Amino acid sequence: MSEWRIKKHPILSIPKRKKIGFYWNSQKLQACEGEVISSALFANGIQVFGHHPKDNSALGIFCANGQCAQCMVVVNGVPVKSCMTRVEENMIVESVEGLPTLPKTIENFQFSRIEETNTDVLIIGGGPSGLSAALQLGEREIETIIVDDKDRLGGKLVLQTHKFFGSIDDCYAGTRGIEIAQILEGKVGEYSSVKVWLNSAAMYVFSDKKVGIVTNNNQYRIVKPKIVLNAAGAREKSLAFPGNTLPGVYGAGAFQTLVNRDLIRPAKRLFVVGGGNVGLIAAYHALQAGISVVGLVEALPQCGGYQVHADKIKRLGVPIYTRHTILSANGDEHVDSVTVCEIDNNFKAIADTERTYECDTVLIAVGLNPVNEFYEEAKQAGMKVFTAGDAGEIAEASSAMFNGKIAGLEISRELGIADVPIPRDWYQKANILNSPPGPLATPDYDSIPEEGITPVFHCTQEIPCNPCVSVCPKGVISIPGDSLLGKPQIAKHECIGCNKCVFICPGLAISLADYRDDPNNPVVSLAYEVYNYEVKRGDTALLADYEGNPLQEAEIIEVVLNKTSRKTQIVKVRIPRGIAKKVAGFRVQREEATLSVAKPTVDRIPDDAIVCRCERVTAGEIRRWIRKGIRDLNQIKAITRAGMGACGSKTCGDMILQMYREEGISLEEVTLNTRRPVFIEAPLGIFSNIPWKKNE
Ligand code: FES
Repeated sequence: MSEWRIKKHPILSIPKRKKIGFYWNSQKLQACEGEVISSALFANGIQVFGHHPKDNSALGIFCANGQCAQCMVVVNGVPVKSCMTRVEENMIVESVEGLPTLPKTIENFQFSRIEETNTDVLIIGGGPSGLSAALQLGEREIETIIVDDKDRLGGKLVLQTHKFFGSIDDCYAGTRGIEIAQILEGKVGEYSSVKVWLNSAAMYVFSDKKVGIVTNNNQYRIVKPKIVLNAAGAREKSLAFPGNTLPGVYGAGAFQTLVNRDLIRPAKRLFVVGGGNVGLIAAYHALQAGISVVGLVEALPQCGGYQVHADKIKRLGVPIYTRHTILSANGDEHVDSVTVCEIDNNFKAIADTERTYECDTVLIAVGLNPVNEFYEEAKQAGMKVFTAGDAGEIAEASSAMFNGKIAGLEISRELGIADVPIPRDWYQKANILNSPPGPLATPDYDSIPEEGITPVFHCTQEIPCNPCVSVCPKGVISIPGDSLLGKPQIAKHECIGCNKCVFICPGLAISLADYRDDPNNPVVSLAYEVYNYEVKRGDTALLADYEGNPLQEAEIIEVVLNKTSRKTQIVKVRIPRGIAKKVAGFRVQREEATLSVAKPTVDRIPDDAIVCRCERVTAGEIRRWIRKGIRDLNQIKAITRAGMGACGSKTCGDMILQMYREEGISLEEVTLNTRRPVFIEAPLGIFSNIPWKKNE
C-alpha cells in the first residue's frame, strides 16, 4: 500500500476499499473507489496539479472544500475541482498547464425541464448547527430539506477525531466529533419530514425567492422554501507571505479532510501557522496520523485556542512559538522549508530572529470567515432567513449545536407550529458554550491529597467543559461557581480509580495518582491517544509537566486499552511522590527539528506575496493602487483582476481589506465587490439541465 495512505490510526478504523485504476497525465495509477481525485493524487505522492497560466507557478490544493478553485484538473477533457470530484475507473485526469481549453460543444442538445420543489424550510449545510435545527423541525413534522455538498452529513464534525468540550447533556461532551456526526445523522434519519440532499451545492438565492441547487453534482433544481436557514459553516482565511501558494501550503481544514476523512498521510514534517483551536487540533491530528509536527507559530503572546489543546501537543513534544509569524514558505515546485521570525508588540518582524525549519507542509490556521452570502442574498430577496453555527458567528461546534437548536425552534415558531417558548437557559447555554477561554493560571495541585487514589487536574483555564463531573460515579469531582465554566476540583476523597474521568477529559488533562501500594512511589495513570507513536510496557518515557516541560525519564509499567476506555490508552508509570502530581504526559517527539538556516527577509507582507491566488495578483500590485487612492474593490478587480478568478474572491477579498487596514484606511471608505450569481462554479449547461457527460 502507498506510503501516503494511513495504515493504522488510534481512533479511525481503516476500511478495506476496492481499488480502481485511473490515468494521470497518461500514467496509470491506483485509487480507492469513492475517493475524490485530489486525495487519489495525494495517495500517489502527487501534490502539484498544474501550473498557472500567468507565471507558470505550481498549483495544488488549498481548501479541499470546494471554495478556492486551486485544485483544478482536467477530467476527460473538462476542467473540474479535484477536491470535489470523485475518481472513477479508467478516468483520464490531466494536470492543468496554463488555461484549460473549453470542452467540445454538445450538438443537438435539448433543454430539459428544471424541477421545482416547495418546502417549508431549506437548510443550507448539514453540519452540527444545520442538523441540530433539523431535529427540532423534524420533531414538529415540518417539511425540511437539508442540502450539503459533501457525500455525508456532519460538516466539520466528520473531520474531528478528538473529544468535544461542553457538557454531556447539552452537546455530547467527551464524545468525538466523528461520533457526534453519526449520532446526529441517525437522529435526523428518524424524521420522515426531513429530506437530505447530499452531494448537492446551493448555488444562489435569487431575487424571486428561489434557491438554485445542483444536486448529485450534475442536476440543476430549484427549491422554493418558505424559510431559509443558512448553516453553511465557515471558510478558512488565507494569509499573504512569499510562497503562500506553493503546493504543500494549505488550510488546516484541508489537512483534516485529507487525514481524517480520506485517510491520506499527506506530510512527513508539518509546520502550523496559527494557535487557535483549529491550528492546535490540526497539530494533534497530525500526531495521531504519525506525522511529525516541527512547530507552531502564533502571533499573539498566548495561543487563542484552549490551553489544554496547546498543553496537550506541547507535552507530546511540539514546540509552540508565540509572538512569532511566518516569513516565507520556501521551495520551487513544493514547500521544502518554512522561515519564521519573532515579532514585536506592533506585529512587526524583529531583525535577526529568523529561523528556517525543514518541512514538507505548512498549514494555515489563522481563522475562519462565516459563509454568510446565502443569508445576505436571501435577506435582500425579502425572504425569511435565519442563520446558525459558524455561518453566523465563528464558535465551537458545541455552541453551533445549541444555536442550531434555537434556530430550529425559532423557525418552528415563525411557521406558527411551535407555541412553546424557547427555554431561556438555551440562550444562556449557547452563550456559555461560546465563551472565550479564560485567563491562564497554574494547576492547583496543593489541594489534591497525596494518599489513596485520586484524580489530578491539569486544567489551567476556565473553559466550558464538565464531563469529568458528570461521569464520576462517586461524586469525587465538582466545579465551584459556574458549573460549566469553572475548573474541576476534588469534592470528596472517595475515588475508586475507575478512570472514567481520565478517559472522558477532552483535554487529556486528568491523570490518576495511586498511592495505595507504595505511598513514596505512586503509580500515575496518563491518558494517551497518539499511539501511532507506539508505547509498550518496559519502554522509557520522558515525562512532562502540564505544559510540556520535561521532568524525568521513567519506565512504563503498563499500557491499558479496553472497551470502556473508548480508544484512549492508559499508560502507567511508577514515579517518586515528589513529582507524582506534576506529571501530565510524556514526549513522543524527542528531537528539536530545527534547521538553522537564516533567511534575512524582514518585511511582514512583502510585495511579492500573492494575495489573489486565482489570478496571481501580488500584494505589491494591490498596494500600489490602494496608495493611488482607489477605494473600490470593483476597481481594484477591474485593474488588477484580483477577485475575478474562479473562487469569486472568497480567498482574497478578506486579505485586500486587511491591506486597506494596514495602510491606515478605514473600511468605511471602501466599497466592497458587487456580488453576482452564482456563488459556486458549475458548467453552464447545468443551468438548463443539458446532460453533461464528463467524457463528451
Ligand atoms: S482545494 Fe479544491 S476548491 Fe479549494
